[in-house]
Amino acid sequence: MKKITISFLTLLTSFVGFSQGNKVNQTGGKFEGLAMAPPMGWNSWNTFETNINEKLVKETADIMVSTGMAAAGYKYIVLDDGWMTRERDANGDLVPDPIKFPSGMKALIDYVHSKGLKFGLYNCAGTQTCAGYPGTRGYEYQDARFYASLEIDYLKYDWCNTAGINAPEAYATMSNALKKAGRPIVFSLCEWGDNKPWEWGEPIGNLWRISGDIYPCFDCEFHHEEGNWSSWGFMKIAEMRKDIRKYSGPDHWNDFDMMEVGDGMTNTEDKTHFTMWSMLASPLIAGNDFRKMSKETLAILTNKALIAVNQDKLGIQGFKLSAVDGLEVWVKPLSDGNWAVTFLNRTEVAKNINFDWKKNPIKDPDFGFEADFNKTIFKLKDLWNNKDIGTTNKNLMVTIASHDVITLKLIK
Ligand code: GLA
Repeated sequence: MKKITISFLTLLTSFVGFSQGNKVNQTGGKFEGLAMAPPMGWNSWNTFETNINEKLVKETADIMVSTGMAAAGYKYIVLDDGWMTRERDANGDLVPDPIKFPSGMKALIDYVHSKGLKFGLYNCAGTQTCAGYPGTRGYEYQDARFYASLEIDYLKYDWCNTAGINAPEAYATMSNALKKAGRPIVFSLCEWGDNKPWEWGEPIGNLWRISGDIYPCFDCEFHHEEGNWSSWGFMKIAEMRKDIRKYSGPDHWNDFDMMEVGDGMTNTEDKTHFTMWSMLASPLIAGNDFRKMSKETLAILTNKALIAVNQDKLGIQGFKLSAVDGLEVWVKPLSDGNWAVTFLNRTEVAKNINFDWKKNPIKDPDFGFEADFNKTIFKLKDLWNNKDIGTTNKNLMVTIASHDVITLKLIK
């Protein structure tokens, strides 16, 4: 009987460990404090896929500085898949592609650093990256030393070609390897949400993707016949993961994917996309071609008030307060008792709203923040139009165009 009890207990314990996913062999612990606000920067994949080279990177870095993007907070330049050759060298080291990067990767990284920016690279937990370049499986410590020697600041670590591999273990191994290599490197888990990284990622990394890839559309699903997988419109991703907000916070962010602002949607949709990423406290990683950026795109990406919502030091992901006939209200608690409130029209036609604050108290289901407009009057600032528009004492009466937003800061 005793024996049975013990083995039952053993089973129970290991089951709890497994289900919580936090019993991985995580000896190092991530570098703490590298991403106290959602990381901001640029990543090459959304526009260029593997067509990357040193001229593109240098020009992107130059523009990041000259347009004021760097001053607005964008600092990481991240090279995604396709930066290396198809084979490792005789020592087993990764080889930056000498044709794409003729001056060498270290020289390019030094250039980016000289601009006051930070630099990131990409690899994969599997045997190969998604585009078929050498993956890190079995080379974790060697690759971590290589990244440290290049002095990179950010590693995006993908999840292709990982059949039979345990996700928490694979990501913990790479995290340990980075720690051992000794250079503080932001660790960005790109596991697509398949194994719920929000449940085990906090001690391992600074941010984790929570979905499959983004697609430049408002609310579509784009199905890739070859490979049988889908990319998602930005509202699909927002909707898909709106309920895991309690797992996100300073230094451990839910990553809603690189942005598609400036990649073919209307300016209104780009503005809404940027608003939602700000409301959701997602990393703000631009994915457009800076060399062809319109002034409207630049204005969206550098909107100070929205960036302040995203970077707010409380670090809480917003949530959907209500949805009636395609008109949604999203709210995000901010530091100092303030709130960001977004009215979003998801429909194809303009909508009038008549919003009685007093009948719509806010109660945060996960973090306990509350706003009762019968007890507290807030001043209202329209963030996109930079205008004071009264207080919560009066109903908000406005028209919102299709796919557009009105975003307010409620100030105590
Ligand atoms: C996956 C990732 C993308 C990108 C590509 C590169 O699809 O989710 O963000 O890194 O791989 O091949």
